[in-house]
Amino acid sequence: MDGDYFGSIEEFTLPLRDGELVDFRPVKQNDKETLQKGMLALSSKSRYFRFFSPILKLSDTQLCDFTEIDQQNHVAWIALAHNEPEDRGLGIARFIRIQDRPEIAEFGVAVIDSYQRRGLGTILLAVLHRMASIKGIEILRGYVLADNTVMSNWLGRLGAVGVHENGVYRMDLTVSDDLFSSKCRKILTDCDLKHNSQDLQKSVFSTRIN
Ligand SMILES: CC(C)(COP(=O)(O)OP(=O)(O)OC[C@H]1O[C@@H](n2cnc3c(N)ncnc32)[C@H](O)[C@@H]1OP(=O)(O)O)[C@@H](O)C(=O)NCCC(=O)NCCS
Repeated sequence: MDGDYFGSIEEFTLPLRDGELVDFRPVKQNDKETLQKGMLALSSKSRYFRFFSPILKLSDTQLCDFTEIDQQNHVAWIALAHNEPEDRGLGIARFIRIQDRPEIAEFGVAVIDSYQRRGLGTILLAVLHRMASIKGIEILRGYVLADNTVMSNWLGRLGAVGVHENGVYRMDLTVSDDLFSSKCRKILTDCDLKHNSQDLQKSVFSTRIN
């Protein structure tokens, strides 16, 4: 992956594995309604896995905490349906640097259920990983419920090391330059095979993600 790619742009568009285009950009202050709508598109299981409780809605305080951020110590990116007039949130990922351990940041990621298993989580985690690297973070730490085997197995395959604490895995993913390069390349290759379209490849900047 081009080392400066994610760090040098403010937004980009990429295809999922099946070729559907998705827009990605940093979270903004006025994304509160989009985040709240996104909660409705998460199943109770996904909400439970993300928030450790089956909350239906984000509180006003959470909405402020999740959108009024500095993009330095608290970094968040959102995935939006491509070219839709009204923003429709498909997924979101964030990390927050631990104050007294600035080389570690805790992260969270969620993809709405109808878009899961299509490569969106991988792109969001790749963006977080790149941002963490740019900001000098050495470890991305995820807290994963013991029954969330999709997440714990996925992080395990990426090389994260887990410690079990009271029903929750604390999983540390070391930030290393080439972690996601092959994953992102595979998403783009799969997409190209399905669509056999050079125009699509050009339109999503894929040549710069290798
Ligand atoms: C975890 C989550 C973000 C993954 O998002 P996604 O868009 O489905 O992710 P991807 O399609 O990129 O898949 C990522 C990996 O998980 C695997 N995976 C995804 N869904 C899976 C499922 N239902 N069963 C088995 N594996 C699955 C994929 O095969 C892939 O693994 P690989 O790269 O080793 O092949 C999504 O399932 C989610 O939002 N879950 C609810 C919230 C949550 O658990 N957040 C994590 C706590 S912070």
